[in-house]
Amino acid sequence: MASGRRPFFCGNWKLNGSIAESLALATDVRNGVATLRDVDVAVGPSFTALYAVAKRLEDGPVTVAAQDCFWEEKGAFTGEVSPAQLVDAGCKHVILGHSERRQLFGELDAAVNLKARAAIRAGLTPIICVGETLAERDAGETIGRVQAQLDGALADMDDTALERVVIAYEPVWAIGTGRNATPAQAGEAHAHIRSRLRQWFGGPAADQCHVIYGGSVKPDNIRDLSALPDVDGALVGGASLDVRSFFDIVTRSRPAAV
Ligand code: PGA
Repeated sequence: MASGRRPFFCGNWKLNGSIAESLALATDVRNGVATLRDVDVAVGPSFTALYAVAKRLEDGPVTVAAQDCFWEEKGAFTGEVSPAQLVDAGCKHVILGHSERRQLFGELDAAVNLKARAAIRAGLTPIICVGETLAERDAGETIGRVQAQLDGALADMDDTALERVVIAYEPVWAIGTGRNATPAQAGEAHAHIRSRLRQWFGGPAADQCHVIYGGSVKPDNIRDLSALPDVDGALVGGASLDVRSFFDIVTRSRPAAV
């Protein structure tokens, strides 16, 4: 982590937790990180728990992320949730283009772009996920794939919009597998993302943009990953469901805390 960007950690709770369980976990996270002044922390419960968790956290430093949204504001779109509704429920962020949404629900870059732009218009910070599959990595297509996803997701955005965006590099083969990217692999992808952002949006906008890593982040691998200059925090799945391991990830990423 470098260049003045405040580290950002977001728990992605995926399809886990009742409202009561989500409240308990959110409260533990808030109490755990309450004294940390040099890091931003968010949690990502299921839709059904968003409002209750946001209410519980409203006075504290921990913010709330939804796991998806639609791009329209209202209308006949059964089952969808708008960015404005997420803001109304107390959310500050929304995770978009997660590989599970791309792989299981056929989400395309164009949809991620529409969602991200709608989220920004509503005042949310989209956390846009990009990352290659194992087949793409083995075929030497990692950088091309990541760049295509990035270009697709950020189409028609300017540097003012980029100020509201977080990019999460999440190699698909590392998600939920216990097999994280090595620092060299993560470093290469993050450096490429940063240089693409610079090329597109200019240095100042690119340099303030958070690019976080995701994929089997654990207390024992975060130190090496967060030491990389272009890694600005993490999107944490499985390990965020346990408050101790999530707290250890957040604190071990901070050189001052070890
Ligand atoms: P994981 O999930 O930490 O369980 O690998 C990360 C994610 O899906 O965002």
